[in-house]
Amino acid sequence: MPAKRTATKPKATPLPKPPDRRRFRTRLLTWYRRHGRDLPWRTTDDPYHILVSEIMLQQTQVDRVLPKYAEWLEKYPSFGALAAAPEHEVTRTWYPLGYNIRPKRLQSIAREAVAHYGGALPSDEATLLSFKGIGAYTAGAIRSFAFGERAAILDTNVARVLFRVFVGKGDPKSHAMKRHLWTLSATLVPMRHVFDFNQALMDFGAMICVARNPKCPVCPMAKNCRAFPFDPAAK
Ligand code: ADE
Repeated sequence: MPAKRTATKPKATPLPKPPDRRRFRTRLLTWYRRHGRDLPWRTTDDPYHILVSEIMLQQTQVDRVLPKYAEWLEKYPSFGALAAAPEHEVTRTWYPLGYNIRPKRLQSIAREAVAHYGGALPSDEATLLSFKGIGAYTAGAIRSFAFGERAAILDTNVARVLFRVFVGKGDPKSHAMKRHLWTLSATLVPMRHVFDFNQALMDFGAMICVARNPKCPVCPMAKNCRAFPFDPAAK
């Protein structure tokens, strides 16, 4: 008789039940309304403005993006203006942000938008993902911030928050965990206030649930967090 197979795969953490999702959303939004950062790309849903901010924020800290974001929009106020600008000038304007492939990609998206989409950014996920420079995170950010769609986001900060609150144990960087965290993020996005919810997730990861020395004593999730009390040796 063949030996009975024993389970070798660790069990996936189940997704939170509706009351737990609601509690997380409410606490996060309440925290954000009191403590969230007042950033210029949070008072617009203009797809061009959102795209510029998200591409700049891909590898650059908020403080360094702020002055460049203002300068950029002054100089190139639309997809049309950016599409028509000389490439060397666009690269120069980007300085000193670094990772110089980003302005080239931004301009190439602007040229596509002008050539094929009437000077606008398409909103569907597959088309957004087809642009170089737009990955899964940026596509989710654009869809939720510019088009109000119930789209999930997952970047390093958001992954850390969701991993700690809802999973707690395991390898946060594994491929399977990333897939789980994407599903979790999608499950948590509310029907309304998608814009604020996703911006709040990012601020929460940047201000409270930070990588080292998270601010558990003032964290509204601590009572229901699977990583609490925080172990400094944890990843
Ligand atoms: N990092 C990436 N996108 C961001 C946003 N919209 N606000 C703050 N930080 C971010």
